Amino acid sequence: MKLWGGRFTKEENQLVHNFNESLSYDRKFYRQDIQGSMAHVTMLARQGIVSKEDEKAILDGLKGILEELDAGTLAFTKEHEDIHSFVEAVLTQRIGEAGKRLHTGRSRNDQVALDMKLYCRDEIVETDRLVKELLEVLLKIMEENLDTYMPGFTHLQKAQPVTLAHHVGAYFEMFLRDRSRLKDLYNRMDQCPLGAGALAGTTYPLDRNCTAELLGFAGPTWNSMDSVADRDYVVELLSTLSMIAMHLSRFSEEIIIWNSNEYRFVELDDAYSTGSSIMPQKKNPDIAELVRGKTGRVYGALVSLLTTMKGLPLAYNKDLQEDKELTFDAIDTVKGCLALFTGMISTITFCRDVMEASARKGFTNATDAADYLVNHGVPFRDAHGIVGQLVLLCIDRGIALDDLTLEEFRSVSPVFGEDIYQAISMETCVRKRNTTGAPGQEAMKEAIEACRRRLRQELDDKT
Ligand code: ARG
Repeated sequence: MKLWGGRFTKEENQLVHNFNESLSYDRKFYRQDIQGSMAHVTMLARQGIVSKEDEKAILDGLKGILEELDAGTLAFTKEHEDIHSFVEAVLTQRIGEAGKRLHTGRSRNDQVALDMKLYCRDEIVETDRLVKELLEVLLKIMEENLDTYMPGFTHLQKAQPVTLAHHVGAYFEMFLRDRSRLKDLYNRMDQCPLGAGALAGTTYPLDRNCTAELLGFAGPTWNSMDSVADRDYVVELLSTLSMIAMHLSRFSEEIIIWNSNEYRFVELDDAYSTGSSIMPQKKNPDIAELVRGKTGRVYGALVSLLTTMKGLPLAYNKDLQEDKELTFDAIDTVKGCLALFTGMISTITFCRDVMEASARKGFTNATDAADYLVNHGVPFRDAHGIVGQLVLLCIDRGIALDDLTLEEFRSVSPVFGEDIYQAISMETCVRKRNTTGAPGQEAMKEAIEACRRRLRQELDDKT
């Protein structure tokens, strides 16, 4: 049964129907569709556009449909084009005439714009909750690892010693920024498109402020053509999801490296790793690899929608139907990745001794040895050269800077004294780095305080 059969004389071809339909996927937002219809009819009755009796019949009917869909006792039948036609058809079948009045002063164009916005808004809240859960786990790891020394890397080469708390703190910042992006987006999309009609508003005396308020928006959208044509917020959501996926993917890549036979910085919990069907010794980081791998399809969704949107004239065009499947998939993918990653990282074992030994062996204290000379009056460029010579000596003999005798230090520069060992010890190297944002324990304690404070912010804080 078609909503728009009146003007047509031929039956719709089956292939055309299959190509055109969206019920097979927009059924995903049946709750939001019904929620929008309930607000619409409540407003229509308040404005005297439909009678109180019709309002009651419609609201009761919609409530029944919602309950049955939730319970899985009402099936989505294929002949309907989309979720909007489906709900209206079932409603009319059940309550008769009154059902036909629901769509007064509304078009599927503003209806779908509303449904998509409500759905994205709900999913933003859910995604934000999952990011927050991950941040709580990261904060706990930070608190427990202020003294877990490890090499910090540049170019994947050992650079300077840091702590695990500091390293994980970098990811904390990334995911916190993701939360602030979600929050910005949540506030920016806070206008209700319902009442925009097909594109040019309507002649009925709708109260758009009323529906906006009933649906929890700050107010109605400002321009009816923009209301039905706008999918900016979907693009922004996909961009934010891409960023979350990118952060998860970078962290996953590190977990994969740290879990490799060569590094052994971490041991994954059995529940979050898998074996090989042929090689009995294997314990593979599949979850981290899948999180890294799935990032591609999230980016794909973003680029796909940007491309769909770039040539669309105002106002509604059917191309817009293409926003759904990829957005739903990106949301579900990122939510899945967040939940799995959080589970994986909260059960991982950090091999502290291995991390620390790796930092000791990799000349990560070479800068500190140069700084020691500078503090004793040697110009930095000369100090750099002197320590370079010492490093060469060590590489030749397969030892660390700390293993050189004082005579050996002094053979390259007489400035070195007994206190050099203290100056280049791992503990000193980290402890002395106490500028804001640095890995030193004092700086880190302050950073963790600030993290805890910033984590408390919620999506709907207007702060
Ligand atoms: N299924 C459509 C979509 O997702 C609903 C809007 C249909 N509007 C129309 N004028 N054909 O965009």
